[in-house]
Amino acid sequence: MTTLLINIKELIQVREHTIKKVSGKDMNVLPTIKNAFLLIENDRIIDFGVMDNLSISADKTIDCSGKMVLPTWCDSHTHIVYAGNREQEFVDRINGLSYEEIANNGGGILNSAKKLQQTSENDLYKQSSVRLEEVMKQGTGALEIKSGYGLTIDAELKMLRVIKKLRDNYDLPIKATFLGAHAFPTKYKNNKKGYINLIINEMLPKIAEENLAEFIDAFCETGYFSVEDTDRILSAGKKYGLTPKVHVNQFTTIGGVQVSVKHDALSVDHLEVMNTDDIETLKGSKTMPVALPSCSYFLSIPYTPARDIINAGLPLALATDFNPGSTPSGNMNFVVATACIKMKMTPEEAINAATINGAYAMNLSNEVGSITKGKKANFIITKEILSYGAIPYNFGSVLIDSVFINGKAI
Ligand code: NIG
Ligand code: FE
Repeated sequence: MTTLLINIKELIQVREHTIKKVSGKDMNVLPTIKNAFLLIENDRIIDFGVMDNLSISADKTIDCSGKMVLPTWCDSHTHIVYAGNREQEFVDRINGLSYEEIANNGGGILNSAKKLQQTSENDLYKQSSVRLEEVMKQGTGALEIKSGYGLTIDAELKMLRVIKKLRDNYDLPIKATFLGAHAFPTKYKNNKKGYINLIINEMLPKIAEENLAEFIDAFCETGYFSVEDTDRILSAGKKYGLTPKVHVNQFTTIGGVQVSVKHDALSVDHLEVMNTDDIETLKGSKTMPVALPSCSYFLSIPYTPARDIINAGLPLALATDFNPGSTPSGNMNFVVATACIKMKMTPEEAINAATINGAYAMNLSNEVGSITKGKKANFIITKEILSYGAIPYNFGSVLIDSVFINGKAI
């Protein structure tokens, strides 16, 4: 089955297969073809070019006059498998409590863990699939999902099995990350070593045995997991073949970037607070810095210093962090707009960060993240727009006409 898209006003993010990520000044370059066609066969992109050179026909033709086509968003950091919500904490914050105070009073991650432990695997799957379908309609065509709201062996395995089921039942690439080190359960409040031993000696072997995760994460933060704890957990994960993707520098700079780079992390995520040593450490590494601007927006915390990162020649990816506590939104269009508005990224930089660099941060650059021959036919057709800058400029507007995953409109 072949499908031909014709009269595309602008085909965005056209790349050669060799490009796995873009860094520094290159982030401000977004290759496009005006007045283009795009040919797909089954689930793959097989050709594209300017309309003038079009000499092929297909089983089905879609006229895209006035509309643009770009690769679907690659959301490399989410926690969409969770139970219930934390609306009450949202209201508590409106009334003056801080995120930290709420967590210290037994709310926060432990609140979500309690709810998840009491929720059946089936119900958890149902709640999560609603969110997945929502973000797909918003243009997400590949995503990573973390565990970390279980915090017991059974509940962590339950979360990871739900992620696996989502992967089995939906057509988009989904990557699983084990985040047992998200918070210390109350039971281990005074026995932190005990919980880390449980992660290393009990959880990890079971997860590896069932092949439930590709990545390992830890919340490396003051009051959560120390640099030493993170070091131990990442080392243990590596023994089971898990690549690190790590929560660092959300509230404090304690050396999370350094320990992650030491372990060849695929990404370091959050980075709301960064010092010059953090930036120096990332230079020359393979680690992708990932910013989560919707989290900064929702919690009113600083935004990741994107300009400092990009001006230092580094790459940057953008992701949602979709979770019940700090970011109850999985809308990548909002992320792209907020990155431009609040982090002073150009539309070109933000679109690169949300596509090809997001793909890199999930080890998916070979499959998605750009319009490239041989890659998955996962793309967005926009409504009629004047320029692609409308995506961040008209923030809050729905500019998506349709979303294709594996060559099929969803
Ligand atoms: O990435 N910072 C750690 N974890 C999540 C939020 C956790 C929560 O509040 O539920 C995050 O922001
Ligand atoms: Fe997160």
